Amino acid sequence: MGFVLDVRESNLEDVVDVNNDIPEFKSDGDVIDTDYFRKRIGDKAHAILVAYVGTIPVGYMVSYEDENNSLYCWMAGVRPDFRKGGVLTELMKKQFQWARVYEYDKITIKTRNERREMLSYLMKNNFMITSVEERENVLDNRILLESYL
Ligand SMILES: CC(C)(COP(=O)(O)OP(=O)(O)OC[C@H]1O[C@@H](n2cnc3c(N)ncnc32)[C@H](O)[C@@H]1OP(=O)(O)O)[C@@H](O)C(=O)NCCC(=O)NCCS
Repeated sequence: MGFVLDVRESNLEDVVDVNNDIPEFKSDGDVIDTDYFRKRIGDKAHAILVAYVGTIPVGYMVSYEDENNSLYCWMAGVRPDFRKGGVLTELMKKQFQWARVYEYDKITIKTRNERREMLSYLMKNNFMITSVEERENVLDNRILLESYL
């Protein structure tokens, strides 16, 4: 890894700051501000993890409690300039630690066929595909996965 990373629980302002720099998330048309995250999280237990290089937030992962004692990994992204340096790997490690502390049974995640980097990570790290939600365009199919803790 070419930079020193610090991954910790943090705030939605830094999450949004990173998210604004993720080109893949710009096409959906939604305004993604702190309220967007707050509304979805509601009063559920949640983890807001941000990876920093010095003072710069370079990646984030937002998860919340879902049914069947699972932690749902809802959104994650890394700034293009900091990719392929292990940021997602470190965020995921922290998320697993967090989920174990709170005694969840599994981590669940939903991603799209077109998110090849994420799918590569998930395959390589033993996530199991549990179902696929079909969409008109196969690239938009949602792939649901889980990993037991
Ligand atoms: C997916 C994403 C978060 C990966 O972040 P990252 O910090 O670059 O990932 P890491 O460096 O920790 O890589 C971990 C593993 O992911 C996979 N991976 C990451 N980037 C990849 C790429 N460009 N091509 C193939 N595999 C890739 C590899 O398995 C990699 O392990 P390796 O380095 O041992 O080969 C980042 O590409 C991103 O933000 N993409 C756009 C947003 C997105 O798709 N978010 C997920 C939505 S569910």
